[in-house]
Amino acid sequence: SSIEKGVFKWSAPSNIALVKYWGKKEHQIPANPSISFTLNNCKTITELSFEKKSVASDEFSFNLLFEGQPKEDFKPKIQKFFERVVVYLPFLKDYHFMIDTQNTFPHSSGIASSASGMSALAMNLMSLEKSLNSEMTDDYFYQKASFLARLGSGSACRSIKGKIVEWGNHAEISGSSDLFGVEFPNTVHSSFQNYQDTILLVDKGEKQVSSTVGHDLMHDHPFAERRFEQAHENLSKIKSILEDGNLEDFIKIVESEALTLHAMMMTSMPYFILMKPNTLEIINKIWKFRSETQIPVCFTLDAGANVHVLYPESVSEAVLQFIKDELVGYCQNRQYICDVIGNGVEQL
Ligand code: PMV
Repeated sequence: SSIEKGVFKWSAPSNIALVKYWGKKEHQIPANPSISFTLNNCKTITELSFEKKSVASDEFSFNLLFEGQPKEDFKPKIQKFFERVVVYLPFLKDYHFMIDTQNTFPHSSGIASSASGMSALAMNLMSLEKSLNSEMTDDYFYQKASFLARLGSGSACRSIKGKIVEWGNHAEISGSSDLFGVEFPNTVHSSFQNYQDTILLVDKGEKQVSSTVGHDLMHDHPFAERRFEQAHENLSKIKSILEDGNLEDFIKIVESEALTLHAMMMTSMPYFILMKPNTLEIINKIWKFRSETQIPVCFTLDAGANVHVLYPESVSEAVLQFIKDELVGYCQNRQYICDVIGNGVEQL
């Protein structure tokens, strides 16, 4: 490798799954396919400075800054990520890296930053790889970035490119792969244009159970096999729904997927609950509002207590009013984040 030093900077968004990934095999291979909306406002911005080592060594060499401050507690995660990806990025040990990261969402908001963080880092590493190997096509560049991001955090592979991204082999999604995310290949109905995601920050505390532990508990889980089949079925259904714009069916799948994710947690051994009382209060309010107004608003959940409120752009005025009047009281410090479907990573 011939470049002495330089700097790259990328932003990468978070994403919210409609059909959930929960359970994995070795090497970050998902037990079932999943699909997500890419977000626009919840992002990680990572600057990667690199400089050729003056003395060759067999160790990874890097410093970490989070919002300008040294951040030692992320070091093991990055170390592990480098170990996993070094076979695909053989130059990694030739350089010293300075990784400077910031998030556009409040930290410790309970919003997972692993998807946006790992995809932002993967993009920077691909930029370096590309400058060492100028013949790379764009398709290869983004596909390998998604492949690398997956090795950092599974769902991160869905944060690279495209508004709606599918990950995991599925008979009906052309080009789908367990190894990287692919942009949903079919034409999407106009109802989903600028689909809104308002994230209600119910609990900003650290999760009691990490998603790594949660995925592992799907081994020996009494309902795992049926759940993995169901995810395939729901992906087939949501594929048609994204094409035909049937929001009533969309809501059924999305809410069922969220509750199924949490049901898997509640029925593993050991079992655990990540929802909080206010999570349930909000769900009930959304159901009541929907049945009274017929406005197609629904919820989904990640591996945490926060609630993502999903709705079409055409009803955003009414839904935002409802959120302000009836839901913010259940949020910590009345905090929520307005987001919308976005396009993926950006070089800065
Ligand atoms: O990417 P991980 O290993 O943090 O897993 C995240 C899994 C969920 O967010 C709960 C679901 C999903 O598909 O994003």
